[in-house]
Amino acid sequence: MLSFISAKEAAEKWNISQRRVSVLCSENRIDGAMMVGNMWIIPSTSEKPIDKRTVRYEREHAISLKPFVKWVGGKSQLIDELENTLPTENDKMLTKYCEPMVGGGALLFNVLSKHHFEELYISDINAELINAYQAIKNNVDNLIQNLREMQMMFLPMDENGRKFYYYSIRDKFNNTQLNEITAIEKATYFIYLNKTCFNGLYRVNRKGQFNVPMGAYKKPIICDEENLRNIHRALQNVTIVCGDYSLSTQFIDEDTFVYIDPPYRPLSDTSAFTSYNADIFDDNEQIRLAKFIDKINSSGAKIVLSNSDPKNVNSEDTFFDELYKAYNIKRVSATRMINSKAEARGKINELLICN
Ligand SMILES: C[S@@+](CC[C@H](N)C(=O)[O-])C[C@H]1O[C@@H](n2cnc3c(N)ncnc32)[C@H](O)[C@@H]1O
Repeated sequence: MLSFISAKEAAEKWNISQRRVSVLCSENRIDGAMMVGNMWIIPSTSEKPIDKRTVRYEREHAISLKPFVKWVGGKSQLIDELENTLPTENDKMLTKYCEPMVGGGALLFNVLSKHHFEELYISDINAELINAYQAIKNNVDNLIQNLREMQMMFLPMDENGRKFYYYSIRDKFNNTQLNEITAIEKATYFIYLNKTCFNGLYRVNRKGQFNVPMGAYKKPIICDEENLRNIHRALQNVTIVCGDYSLSTQFIDEDTFVYIDPPYRPLSDTSAFTSYNADIFDDNEQIRLAKFIDKINSSGAKIVLSNSDPKNVNSEDTFFDELYKAYNIKRVSATRMINSKAEARGKINELLICN
């Protein structure tokens, strides 16, 4: 008797997204696939169809990479939508990938897991975050050893012990200048704090000091050795830069796919979360970014930009519709995780802007 598996199981088996499985089913590319209710089921004996995109862009032996930090505005939820914007067989061959505001790198790690680009460039203005990327790329053994020791120390502690330890590391992190000598130590503290702080939030005060309280995780994984080692290998041909996104102009050309995910324009006065660093990303910054987009657009790059949709709270707010009127603007659904206003949580639209 023929047995079936779900689209989720097929996605895991074939190492592609669930959405991609649904697309393949709806294109009749999988013999015997059937819609039951609103879900696809697939004969368990089906082979992975040869995906046109796989031929040119997917790695033969995909490894699964996850972001090594949780990051506000992280794009894990929009991965399927973003993946659909990556170059396909019908597009011009793009050999370079650029993510100038990389944050936790949800799309970057998806790309490094499954797709092949010859040259990659990432940057962020947050020096501590970029230091952690560089430590993984250049010094992963020491980093793993430090994190392992911290994990062994922290996990058996009771609540008071953990609090004392957490706040003493937070003080050390804030009071140690980042330089060549302290780079590994600071990367270790940065990852430890991200794994144990409230909600994995990175937030600094006006003096640039990390000020997030301890979280309540029972058994946080402070040292995910396998993922760190996989990332270490994957980052070897990635250029990692600390600085403003505009520095990437030198890298970007007509062969480049660029994904830009700036700090969101707040949906309301109280929902602002723009403190990844001590600078504020206000409307003037959004306008400066739009000029940069125009510039790289004229160089022939393929561009995808995401942002919040102001129309979620004010249907008359056409800020981005005006700013990007020369581009294609798509509204996609997402769940916002961090907002001070309860009514702004839950499903809302976000913008995907492409050239
Ligand atoms: C919404 S987050 C990116 C999240 C990322 N897509 C992810 O999956 O985690 C925006 C990032 O832009 C960075 N940023 C802010 N201003 C910047 C600037 N002028 N140049 C480069 N990066 C900047 C922030 O530090 C933050 O990491």
